[in-house]
Amino acid sequence: MFQPGLKGVTAIETVLSQIDGEKGSLVYRGIPIEKIVKQYSFEETAFYLLKGTFPDRYTLATFQDNLKTNRKLPAYVRQIIDLLPKEQAMMDVLRTTISSLTRNGTANLDNAIHLIAIIPTIIAYRYRKSAGMSEIEPSMDLDHVENFLYMLTGSVDKNQAKLLESYLIMTMEHGLNASTFAARVTISTQSDIISAVTSAIGTMKGPLHGGAPSGVINLLEEIKTKDRISEIIHKKLDNKERIMGFGHRVYKTTDPRAEGLKAKILELDELPDWVDLALETEKETINILKEYKPDQRLYTNVEYYAAAIMKSLDIDPALFTAIFSASRIVGWCTHAMEQASNNTIFRPGAKYIGK
Ligand code: ACO
Repeated sequence: MFQPGLKGVTAIETVLSQIDGEKGSLVYRGIPIEKIVKQYSFEETAFYLLKGTFPDRYTLATFQDNLKTNRKLPAYVRQIIDLLPKEQAMMDVLRTTISSLTRNGTANLDNAIHLIAIIPTIIAYRYRKSAGMSEIEPSMDLDHVENFLYMLTGSVDKNQAKLLESYLIMTMEHGLNASTFAARVTISTQSDIISAVTSAIGTMKGPLHGGAPSGVINLLEEIKTKDRISEIIHKKLDNKERIMGFGHRVYKTTDPRAEGLKAKILELDELPDWVDLALETEKETINILKEYKPDQRLYTNVEYYAAAIMKSLDIDPALFTAIFSASRIVGWCTHAMEQASNNTIFRPGAKYIGK
């Protein structure tokens, strides 16, 4: 059987998340993400995905301490980052530095903790260096998300940290998406977790996957005012362009993460001006897509409102995909562990159509 893009093919069994594309629901190990994001922190959710139970107070404190002690950049990683050309994009920097990490390569909790802890430091260090700002050493007092914002900006606003944390929790895990699949394929050859995460990062950066949010910002900037929405969207679709932040392989209704993030934005005390433009663009674009693609069911995906969250936090669009990776690293590692524990090498067939 030939299925381009493996559409509709089930390739793994997993206990990590369940997606219902018709209902628009996402569940991590049996618990809906709406409940998780309301009740648990980044650290608790990551632990739950990795280990399958929520940590008690003592276990959580140990997990948090392990994350903190793994935040510091090894000297050689710092040197590699400093050597990379200034214009190199953040996802390329992340791919190169992660691939340089020297760890015993097993897919296990210790390596997962190291990777989860170090990615924010790589992003913040590189961002500040290339912007000509001084480096901010990781704090040993702040929690994971607060520390990330602190290393990026030099200060921590609790409300902003909560908003970013909601985004990072809702995007930690999402079944066999392209980057997670890449990680599992790599592990399935009995390769190591650093190689698996390097494959995942290389896959994540594409504009059809994790590279979409900066495309969403470009779209909204191009639209500028509500009266231009219809004209710009029609023009793009006439040119056979895809509208970034719309459509999903699995969700044939609203992406629950997009809904969750939208709700978080609407809870803000002061709504930034562009939120109104984003809401109207969503409404009109869904209707225009129905005209152009009557057989498809195209709604906003997580990337649309991820872009909105990042814009509210005034985060440079050049960092968006890397920040998505700082969340999805949990899913990559836990899938790598699941694959390693019950492995069959991935080796689909290819239908020969040559001469
Ligand atoms: N804009 C315009 N048309 C679209 C869009 C879109 N955003 N998405 C799908 N379509 C159309 C395609 O042109 C195609 O039309 P056709 O049958 O007339 O040729 C049809 O819908 C099916 O497209 P596929 O790419 O086969 O559908 P698939 O389900 O595999 O695509 C994908 C999913 C890649 C996400 C797609 O919807 C897309 O390109 N969206 C824009 C990029 C984006 O937002 N990516 C982020 C996804 S979320 C994530 O990865 C975290």
